[in-house]
Amino acid sequence: MLLFFEDERAPAHRLAQASGLTPHQVERHRFPDGELKLRLPATLPSQVVVLRSLNDPNEKLVELLLLATTARNLGAQHLTLVAPYLAYMRQDLAFHAGEVISQRVVGDFIAGLFDALITVDPHLHRVATLAQAVPVAQPLVLSGAPLLSDWIARHRANALLIGPDEESAQWVAQAAQRHGLDFTVCHKTRHNDHAVLVQLPPVDVAGRQVVVMDDVISTGHTVAQATQLLLAAGARSVDVAVTHALFAPGALELLRKAGVGEIWSTDCIAHASNQVFMAERLAQALAQLRESAKSL
Ligand code: R5P
Repeated sequence: MLLFFEDERAPAHRLAQASGLTPHQVERHRFPDGELKLRLPATLPSQVVVLRSLNDPNEKLVELLLLATTARNLGAQHLTLVAPYLAYMRQDLAFHAGEVISQRVVGDFIAGLFDALITVDPHLHRVATLAQAVPVAQPLVLSGAPLLSDWIARHRANALLIGPDEESAQWVAQAAQRHGLDFTVCHKTRHNDHAVLVQLPPVDVAGRQVVVMDDVISTGHTVAQATQLLLAAGARSVDVAVTHALFAPGALELLRKAGVGEIWSTDCIAHASNQVFMAERLAQALAQLRESAKSL
């Protein structure tokens, strides 16, 4: 069975179709004081998959606590969380005394509720593997880069792929190699949430159709600045491909003002820019987990 919430009905049905799981929407009531009431089916099979992408995570983490605890009481013995976007992965270190290492707290919380976790391009900085961040028994990481690369290759012949910072090299290189495209990355210095300094690499972009690729767009400042520099350097067009369409208020307007053409995203986070669907990949990952569980 696949449990999902109303706001993720479309990706849930795509995943149910691709995986053969029976979808069931969790009933959710929000009381006037903000508390939540959930309702699951009266009995559950032994294996249950929960789809919950963790953008806007705070209330969703409470949902997961209520849901997973109850699912076990109702018969679930193995719980898999499919969280295409995984929250709180950035804060993996206490930069100042007393700072909360959110990644560890949230990672332990999820691992305490679920047996398996599937996620897409988690934002891991100083931690090498998902298992270190979220110590579940069965962690599995997918990437949005291959499918984004296929989409780009179909829509922009001979595109030049550019990552807005060094960190993006892992996704951009993967996407470029898949279709034999040129790629490079910029250098970025972040000053605060809304202030970044992007510097272009020494590459001739004149006349090129550039696609800026990143794992996450939040405020949009990173990609907006890269776009302005690329257009000023003579790029014929700048489009954007992103795995996680977080898009904080004002981000889309910022990108448009900077001169971005098309914005393409995966459906890891439900958004109007979703063009690339992860369902088949997620279904393969679920099948892989079932196989590895059999051999345990
Ligand atoms: C940074 O490490 C990420 O890959 C993104 O480049 C960053 O999160 C984008 O943030 P914003 O859209 O707020 O500039």
